[in-house]
Amino acid sequence: LYVTLEPCCHQGRTPPCTEAIIQHGISKVVYGSSDPNPLVSGKGAEQLRRAGIEVTEGFLKEECDALNTIFFHYITTGMPYTAVKFAMTLDGKIATVSGKSKWITGDIARQHVHMLRNKYAAILVGIGTVLADDPMLNCRIPGGHDPLRVICDSHLRIPEGSQICRSAKDIPTLIAYCDDPHSRRDMLEDMGIQLLHIPDENGRVDMCRLLTELGKMKTDSVLAEGGGAIHDSLMATGLSSHVYAYIAPKIFGGAVAKSPVLGAGVEDPAECAHLTNLKTTMLGEDILLEYDIQGGYRKNVYRHS
Ligand SMILES: NC(=O)c1ccc[n+]([C@@H]2O[C@H](COP(=O)([O-])OP(=O)(O)OC[C@H]3O[C@@H](n4cnc5c(N)ncnc54)[C@H](OP(=O)(O)O)[C@@H]3O)[C@@H](O)[C@H]2O)c1
Repeated sequence: LYVTLEPCCHQGRTPPCTEAIIQHGISKVVYGSSDPNPLVSGKGAEQLRRAGIEVTEGFLKEECDALNTIFFHYITTGMPYTAVKFAMTLDGKIATVSGKSKWITGDIARQHVHMLRNKYAAILVGIGTVLADDPMLNCRIPGGHDPLRVICDSHLRIPEGSQICRSAKDIPTLIAYCDDPHSRRDMLEDMGIQLLHIPDENGRVDMCRLLTELGKMKTDSVLAEGGGAIHDSLMATGLSSHVYAYIAPKIFGGAVAKSPVLGAGVEDPAECAHLTNLKTTMLGEDILLEYDIQGGYRKNVYRHS
């Protein structure tokens, strides 16, 4: 018998499935994950034990926890579970020397990205990507959901003719900004865009503050889709937990062609961010490598308090 206590967690009340177990005379319950939500944690098991049922907890805990990564992260940190996603050539380029990135991977890999968009609550990109690619950032799976589109645009430079602006009445869109030097706020709001003022950190949107605000808005997960500057802000600070790297059998070359993570980088290999739990998937000619990210790569890394 498989039951999940987690979606039934209503304000600390006994989960209905616990009552069902008791009513049906089940004598033994074995479970893997405990709900990290302090409102409900341990209450179901306690009630079962009081009813004389034998309860074993923590069975295949890691595997069970892995089924619920997003919820566990969100409920324990209050911040969205954040993953970084990029498509690159074998020589580590996410665009050509002229900044073009359409397309690097094939149809199957691009279809896979739409599955991810259907899973995550929000997509995050920098204004550099909007200016270079003019992306739509929607989910093109039949019956899929369009995630909230979040753009980091410190000085509200987004062109009103961009696909993002023109579709903002149909697809939820939020721009995180620091100031409005050209008085464009009203115009953007009239186009259906939600504006979120975030104080700046070194002249740019403070990523930690932005994720904290998104968490308060009940956004439990964010898929960062570039570019390299945004990935650096997430990776260096340890704010991202997972990476999806789609690798295409292509070489772009070019010393100035961009790579997936920009910024200042580390000076010593020992200062790097570490990746664990590799998962590989073949997607046509392309390979998807997935990893969990362990911490950031600068000395002053952000830590959840
Ligand atoms: N292959 C792929 O998977 C892929 C995906 C996406 C993009 N790309 C390519 O990547 C290139 C764009 O990358 P990019 O690095 O130039 O631009 P980006 O990361 O998309 O945007 C960077 C800009 O975002 C703004 N920003 C605001 N807050 C920020 C913060 N906390 N951290 C970082 N940036 C912040 C800054 O501009 P302001 O100061 O004006 O706010 C910054 O210059 C394009 O060539 C695009 O084609 C490739």
